[in-house]
Amino acid sequence: MTTSAPRTPRALGGPAALERLLAEAEPLGRRADGGWDRPGFGPEEEALRALVVRQVEALGGRATLDRATNLWGWFTPPGPGALVLGSHLDSVPGGGPLDGPLGVFSALAAVGELLGRGWHPRRPLAIVAFRDEEGSRFGRACLGSRLLAGELSEADLAALRDAAGTSLKDLVAATGGDPDAVGPDPEALATIGTFLELHVEQGRALVHHRAPLGVARTIWPHARLRVELPGQANHAGTTPMHERSDPVVALARLVLAARSEAFARGAHATIGSIHVTPNATNAIARFVEAWVDVRAATEGALEALLEHVATVARRLNGSATEVSRTPTTTFDPAFAEQLAQLLSAPMIPTAAGHDAGILQHHGVRAGMLFVRNPTGISHAPEETASVEDRAVGVDALVRVIEELG
Ligand code: HGY
Ligand code: MN
Ligand code: MN
Repeated sequence: MTTSAPRTPRALGGPAALERLLAEAEPLGRRADGGWDRPGFGPEEEALRALVVRQVEALGGRATLDRATNLWGWFTPPGPGALVLGSHLDSVPGGGPLDGPLGVFSALAAVGELLGRGWHPRRPLAIVAFRDEEGSRFGRACLGSRLLAGELSEADLAALRDAAGTSLKDLVAATGGDPDAVGPDPEALATIGTFLELHVEQGRALVHHRAPLGVARTIWPHARLRVELPGQANHAGTTPMHERSDPVVALARLVLAARSEAFARGAHATIGSIHVTPNATNAIARFVEAWVDVRAATEGALEALLEHVATVARRLNGSATEVSRTPTTTFDPAFAEQLAQLLSAPMIPTAAGHDAGILQHHGVRAGMLFVRNPTGISHAPEETASVEDRAVGVDALVRVIEELG
């Protein structure tokens, strides 16, 4: 089947288009102290989505939203068996510029390059920008892809509240959407025949391989716990040390226990988000909430580490609630092999979560390409990829689309 696609000027595609999109995005959410703040549903994510819509329309495509509020750009009539490329646009607080946008913008640049050459898709073709992938808004990682795929019940949806107490449906209403339409979207999910996510590497495996590009093989299983530690607020000057019930001291014990258990299991445990109440210099705290991010090579090690952290929290008179868990992801092995051969790229594992992994768990044939990151740093302003490697990424997507699209 040859589906009609718009003819587009060459200048709208290729690595130059990627660089222009990154330059336009650069000021959005830029912090004075370095890094970018682009929370899901925030004004920066909305501005990035508007940039994507403009580019989709300049390429002659049609921008649509699915019921999970993910943004799609269709370059053919929507239909089953589609080749879909994309990633997300939001960032962690103080994150880097590429985690997310690089994948969406590279997909647009590759589609633009091909349409500019007068190429016609043989099957439905779309790009997608998933909503709130980092989960910094509601604590649920990969919110848009999980919601699309039906992982959240009506009750889960109703219970989601951000730090200000605002619900997902209220946020949708505030961004001009229909709150009652929000939910899973099996029809949109069913259009995806193959999903490919290009992403900046979050580590240095490709530096060691001396390769600009890699193919994802697996994602470690991972989970998030919310730990609550109660204490007794009191005066910092007058309360004797032996009479204190200080939840910050309990937190310190929990942090060290999680760290040593993670070391012992070859796993990763991170406490990077802490809320101390009331957060006063001269008062012992009344309450601490801490988020524990846990990742391990095997589900057994993950389970043991989670159990250890929860046990320590209980021993400290606190509690631990599991907020999300994602099992091991094994990307479609035949597709990964096809990508590795086509692009002469090494296969590498990762311990970072991605929307592509969520889709793979829901029966989609999904794959990922990583672009070399010389610092290996991610979720921080030092996250980077050279202009040359970014161009290799766009060219790789062009080749994949030509092959599969
Ligand atoms: O947290 C993660 O693993 C991802 O970068 N969202
Ligand atoms: Mn990330
Ligand atoms: Mn990402």
